Amino acid sequence: MVGSTTVNTVWDTKTQTFHGGQEHRFLNNFIEDFSVTTNYLGTPAGALEAAKEAIHDIHHYPAANQEPAKTSLAEFLWPNGDHQQHHGRLLMGNGASELIDLVVRQCLKNQAQGKGFDYQPTWKGSPWNVQYQEYQRSAATNGFKILEPSNPDRVDMLCIVNPCNPTGDYFSVEPLKAWIKANIATGGTVIVDESMQPWHSADFRNDSLISEHDFAKEMWDEQKVSIHVMHSWTKIWSCTGLRIGSVICPTADHCEALKKIQVPWSVNGPALKFVEAVVQDQAYLDETWENTTRLRAHLVDRLLALHPEWVIHGKSFLSWVWIDMGSQALADKAVDLAREAGVPVRSGTPGYKCLSFVRVAVRKEAEVDVLISAWKSL
Ligand SMILES: Cc1ncc(COP(=O)(O)O)c(C=O)c1O
Repeated sequence: MVGSTTVNTVWDTKTQTFHGGQEHRFLNNFIEDFSVTTNYLGTPAGALEAAKEAIHDIHHYPAANQEPAKTSLAEFLWPNGDHQQHHGRLLMGNGASELIDLVVRQCLKNQAQGKGFDYQPTWKGSPWNVQYQEYQRSAATNGFKILEPSNPDRVDMLCIVNPCNPTGDYFSVEPLKAWIKANIATGGTVIVDESMQPWHSADFRNDSLISEHDFAKEMWDEQKVSIHVMHSWTKIWSCTGLRIGSVICPTADHCEALKKIQVPWSVNGPALKFVEAVVQDQAYLDETWENTTRLRAHLVDRLLALHPEWVIHGKSFLSWVWIDMGSQALADKAVDLAREAGVPVRSGTPGYKCLSFVRVAVRKEAEVDVLISAWKSL
């Protein structure tokens, strides 16, 4: 219990979308949160210290231009000397969630200006059966017509989470570009959410749209299609409570249009200091790349030793597994048992409507032992 809130009432289901990461507050025996896709390493220590230190400055407003954090982030995204060239296309936000809302609203405005206020613009997500839901929620509440993933029509707004949370599907860069070209209408807006892509490897930038400047330019120059690359930084750097996201726009003009509708100071002082410090922490990322795949393989082995018939989805480099347990009854029981043991997992039912699925984060062996013990009776 927190005040009068319980785990069943923490979300206002009439107005909000279910998300993992709330149950730990309500568990007296909490051990580890397997319900969110954050980095198993936890928050990087140096950056956490920098954020703590910045608390002493909260009597001042944060920098109105997000500097020097934004430049630090630009240097991280484009370390080969061309960050100055792209800096004007980068905007930070209070988590990716804020920026998703901004880009959706801007797209709506552009469509109304081009086609009139009576026109209902269309929206489509990734080709995979489900994806992180905030994109669809934001599009639906803003009045877009939502098309099924299987609908072949070109749409006014295309949003793909790549790698896809929760299914773990992934397009490398060339198939991704081909899919965008085949599904977006002239004058449309695209968001590619690459929040989980930095797990790919030390070479992640080379399989990412962050390096595809010519593609973004060509799509804009030739078809007036605006490609946006979205990042939630709260997962790879395990700081969901701090709220840090960014979007790379096709041009500096697009970025300015978003800034116009963004609330001032949306990224707070400690979050800006955190970013400045965290991008310097190469050891943290090296450790992430070195161990996540191994720990994920370990988790998969332990799960399949329990239930060889379970089907485990997702690329091997990712920070979670998406498990099809074969029946809703089994998945529900697994969710309950994990919660009771203090190691909550994400049910596939709320929001995703994948009734026999459960999402489990990659965590260290000792914590996985607790989860597996909890599931022995399944
Ligand atoms: C793929 C993806 N994008 C964006 C977000 C939103 O992240 P935040 O607002 O915490 O930055 C999430 C959160 O779960 C996510 O999974």
